[in-house]
Amino acid sequence: MIKFFGLFSLAHIIMLPGFTNSQEEKVNVTVYYETLCPFAKKFIVGQLKPFLKGDLSAYINLRLIPYGKANTMFENGMYSFSCHHGDAECYGNKFQACVLTYEIHKKLPDNLGYNKDAVEFVICLMEGVEGTSDIEKIRSVAEKCSNTEKYSGLKKCVDSRISSEYLRDFGQKTKTFQDPLGNVPTIVYNGVFNKDESDHSERNFKEVFCSKLKSKNLSACSNGGPTIESFALLSIGITVLSLLGSH
Ligand SMILES: *[C@@H]1O[C@H](CO)[C@@H](O)[C@H](O)[C@H]1NC(C)=O
Ligand SMILES: *[C@@H]1O[C@H](CO)[C@@H](O)[C@H](O)[C@H]1NC(C)=O
Repeated sequence: MIKFFGLFSLAHIIMLPGFTNSQEEKVNVTVYYETLCPFAKKFIVGQLKPFLKGDLSAYINLRLIPYGKANTMFENGMYSFSCHHGDAECYGNKFQACVLTYEIHKKLPDNLGYNKDAVEFVICLMEGVEGTSDIEKIRSVAEKCSNTEKYSGLKKCVDSRISSEYLRDFGQKTKTFQDPLGNVPTIVYNGVFNKDESDHSERNFKEVFCSKLKSKNLSACSNGGPTIESFALLSIGITVLSLLGSH
C-alpha cells in the first residue's frame, strides 16, 4: 500500500501546477468594481478569494479595476471624482488604485499572473468594509490590511494628487471598456465581454473560468473528489512517513 502511494507521487508530482509555465496558457480576467458595492464584495470575497487559494491560480492573469460607476472631473488643474456610493467610496478606490498601481510595476514572480500582495490587500479591504462604511472606517481597515511599514507610504499616496491620477487611469480603462459601466462587478475574460459569463461568474467563477480552459482538461476543474494534486501531496506525506518508519 505504502509502495503504491510512493510510485503514485513520483508519477504525478510533475503535474503540479507550479510546473506549468507559459503565459499563453493563462486566461486573462479583468474585474471592474468599486469599493462599497455589496455585489463586488460578494464576488471578491466569496469567489475570487477561494479561487486564488486553489491550484487554478496558476492559470489566471488578473487585472482589478477599482472605479465602477464613478465619474472624473477636471477643475482648476485638479482631478476630482464623484463615486457611486459617495466620497467614502472614492477614498477606498484611491487606496486600491495606489496599491494596484505601485505593485503592478514590480516584477511578478515567475508563473504568477497577478501581484499577490496587491490582490491580498484588495481582498482584505473588500472583506473589511460594507456599503455603509465611512472614510474613517475605510482608513482603519486599510491600515489593518497593509503592514505598518507599508501603510505610511500608502497613506501618502492616497492623500496626494498621485492617487487621483491613478484613479483617473482606472476610470479611463473603465470608460474605454464601457460607458457607463452597466453592472458592478463586471468580469471580462480575454478582453471579450459576455454578459451571461459575467453574471454567471458572480455565482460560480470557477465554472466559467474552467470553461475557458476546457482544452486543458485540468483535474482542478473537475467536479467533486480530491484532485490529483491532493493525492500527490498525501502520497508525499505517506512516503516521508514510511521512510522515517523504515529507519
Ligand atoms: C492576455 O493578455 C496579454 C497581455 O495583455 C496578451 O498579450 C494576451 O494576448 C491575452 N490573451 C488572450 C487569450 O486574450
Ligand atoms: C480528461 O481527463 C480524464 C482523466 O483525468 C480522462 O478520463 C478524460 O478522457 C480526459 N478527457 C479529455 C477530453 O482529454
